[in-house]
Amino acid sequence: MQVLVIGGGGREHALVWKIKQSPRVEKVFCAPGNAGTGEIAENVPIAADDIKSLLDFALQKKIGLTVVGPEQPLVLGIVDQFEKEGLRIFGPNERAAKLEGSKSFSKDMMDKYGLPTAEYKTFTSPENAADYIKTKKGPLVVKADGLAAGKGVLICQTEDEALAAVDSIMGKKSFGEAGDQIVVEEFLEGQEVSVLAFCDGQTVLLMDSAQDHKAAYDGDKGPNTGGMGAYSPAPVFSEIMRQKVRDKIMLPMIRAMQKEGRVYKGILYAGLMLTKTGPQVLEFNARFGDPETQPLLVRMENDIIPVFEACIDGTLGQCQLGWKEESSVCVVMAAEGYPGSYEKGKPISGLKEANALPGVVVFHAGTKEKDGEVLTHGGRVLGVTATGADTPTSITRAYEAVNKIQWQGIHFRKDIGNKAGN
Ligand code: AMP
Ligand code: GLY
Repeated sequence: MQVLVIGGGGREHALVWKIKQSPRVEKVFCAPGNAGTGEIAENVPIAADDIKSLLDFALQKKIGLTVVGPEQPLVLGIVDQFEKEGLRIFGPNERAAKLEGSKSFSKDMMDKYGLPTAEYKTFTSPENAADYIKTKKGPLVVKADGLAAGKGVLICQTEDEALAAVDSIMGKKSFGEAGDQIVVEEFLEGQEVSVLAFCDGQTVLLMDSAQDHKAAYDGDKGPNTGGMGAYSPAPVFSEIMRQKVRDKIMLPMIRAMQKEGRVYKGILYAGLMLTKTGPQVLEFNARFGDPETQPLLVRMENDIIPVFEACIDGTLGQCQLGWKEESSVCVVMAAEGYPGSYEKGKPISGLKEANALPGVVVFHAGTKEKDGEVLTHGGRVLGVTATGADTPTSITRAYEAVNKIQWQGIHFRKDIGNKAGN
């Protein structure tokens, strides 16, 4: 079978790496890919949101399975368009992907079906939002409704900050149309955990847990990013919690979507806050997490192809997932300045040496190959991932590998995995 992976980040390099291990797969294409995917698959120079060109390519190459990494093509309806042409594609269709595409839709669904989530209100007028904020005490979270590459969420400690956030999103349109509508919600405290599940419309199969590190700097300081590192499993997420999340959050949401005529197939990713009163949903995403996918897939024992197929065919009830006992840690190496502005085109050295260390895989994100050299080409550049007998061993291995890699202007967090606390 020929497989097409859509996207060009660390998540997609990890997906290509995992898919390549399937005996069912003859060839993998990645559109647009990065220097890392280019080493193990054939990169195709088509942007992830250019659905028409992707469709033409898939038809022409007789692609047996397409796996979508990022949210934009899902929200734009790539699954509907591929299925209309009889192509097999893994991911939710446009109506189902709205769970990530619109935060107000997602909150309304949680509210309607009684899922635990922060108290909230939705606004299309900045004046009404301001009136509401003035009635509230304590920190608030102001969110742009639409997609904003993980940056549309502003945590506001004071009323003034919340009012400024409304002005930035609705007045100054910092996130464009994504901010025509906003959600203002109560601030929740606790540890965050990412729970990803395979779904076939009816059944959910939870992956092992992972914890992301959203803030740019050590100690969870600084602005939110797409994610600066992740590890798996997260000891804070116990087996009892896992069952609770499956039965009270993941399954009810899949059933709710089915009831609303929005049958959900693909990955359902719940960003959870583990509060004193139990897990609360911060958001749902319609895709694999980045960087959570990197530490998850290096631990996954299954051939991933039959699992993708079971999601498409509605036979997930017959699948079981296996996870290596080992723990894994992924440290994101970013360009200095990220998540703000940063430079590109810096030559990267030490990749071979890092990859040669025991238990280490260096997944590429924003990289580009030019004349045999690997150059930086994005904010998050690499996801240095290591497995080990326990989290401290994986942490040591991952940072040993990080220390072999050089370019001019590197930024990475030095505390990835410390929250595991062992
Ligand atoms: P979201 O895209 O909605 O998951 O928000 C991005 C990040 O903002 C989350 O991973 C949390 O770190 C933070 N966040 C979002 N909503 C809340 C909330 N209600 N309380 C505290 N932190 C939040
Ligand atoms: N790591 C956060 C996300 O993928 O949205």
